[in-house]
Amino acid sequence: MKLFINVLSVVLFLPDNDVSRVDKEVSVSAMEGDSVTLYTGVQTNQQEDIKWYFNDTRIAQISGDLSDICTDVQCNEGTERFRDRLKLDHQTGSLTITNTRNTHSGLYELNIIIISSSDSGKIFNVTVKGVSAAKRDEVKRKSVKEGESVTLDPGVIKKTSDVMMWYFNDTLIAEITGDQSKICTDVQCKERIRDRLKLDHQTGSLIITNTRNTDSGEYKLQINIINSSFSITRVKRFSVSVVDVPDSGLSSGAVAGIVVGVLLVFAGVTAGVIYYRHHRTHEPVPQRDDM
Ligand SMILES: *[C@@H]1O[C@H](CO)[C@@H](O)[C@H](O)[C@H]1NC(C)=O
Ligand SMILES: *[C@@H]1O[C@H](CO)[C@@H](O)[C@H](O)[C@H]1NC(C)=O
Ligand SMILES: *[C@@H]1O[C@H](CO)[C@@H](O)[C@H](O)[C@H]1NC(C)=O
Ligand SMILES: *[C@@H]1O[C@H](CO)[C@@H](O)[C@H](O)[C@H]1NC(C)=O
Repeated sequence: MKLFINVLSVVLFLPDNDVSRVDKEVSVSAMEGDSVTLYTGVQTNQQEDIKWYFNDTRIAQISGDLSDICTDVQCNEGTERFRDRLKLDHQTGSLTITNTRNTHSGLYELNIIIISSSDSGKIFNVTVKGVSAAKRDEVKRKSVKEGESVTLDPGVIKKTSDVMMWYFNDTLIAEITGDQSKICTDVQCKERIRDRLKLDHQTGSLIITNTRNTDSGEYKLQINIINSSFSITRVKRFSVSVVDVPDSGLSSGAVAGIVVGVLLVFAGVTAGVIYYRHHRTHEPVPQRDDM
């Protein structure tokens, strides 16, 4: 039976390959460092056999009863290409390539064998754009004086279908989905920062107003670019340090006032000295005869 299905699949697979290749091809455009998930659009509990090929080499397989699962090196006798980067969803057979590189660009072919129904498949033409290592691992650093606002700008062109999730020290603090947004779903976050967080729906930026020392730390933005056939996950990192204003008893306004005051006094003293000198040089110097 197994052999028969395999033979059948080859027979069905080959003609299918060329006939409907074009209209089934999905273009996926990612950047190095992104995670890319290619959807099968099925559930494996319907007794399907799902096979993934990369440039015609089998790289992943899952059978409906989960008796036959392999990824990368296990599937193709030693030609390791992906180094622990492949993940196969056991429910759907969808394939995720994590932390992509330019060398993962190519054609990913999906072949689904459905028992007692017709075969189907898809082709994903994945293009992973090269990015320098420095850019890929970049952490944007922001330094702000306590009490001031800071804006963390992802610097991307946001589509309405994108989902953006902001994390602080690995806790989800804000989320934008379409025109909906949520700020702080857990209690600790609500108490600590909720009233001071704002989101810019146009850019996806996170704005922290009236910063406190406790806002210092790592902020991570996860962007999910969602399509019906695939999704791309991109991560941006920020490091915020909120610096103390010296002499915390004074507000920045008071500090500015004092600075102006000191300058005025200084200016006054300087003017006085100049006036005094000026007059001294023009008035007859009093002679003193006490020698
Ligand atoms: C999904 O991506 C394809 C191109 O690969 C595009 O034609 C289609 O409009 C996208 N769909 C959505 C819902 O973004
Ligand atoms: C896969 O195929 C693409 C062209 O479709 C080619 O550019 C790429 O180098 C190939 N990659 C590997 C690892 O064979
Ligand atoms: C895959 O996409 C790239 C870039 O969009 C294109 O240059 C190439 O011709 C496509 N390959 C196939 C086999 O469709
Ligand atoms: C966040 O992480 C930073 C650096 O690891 C740490 O100093 C800070 O206490 C953390 N803040 C919170 C509220 O967990």
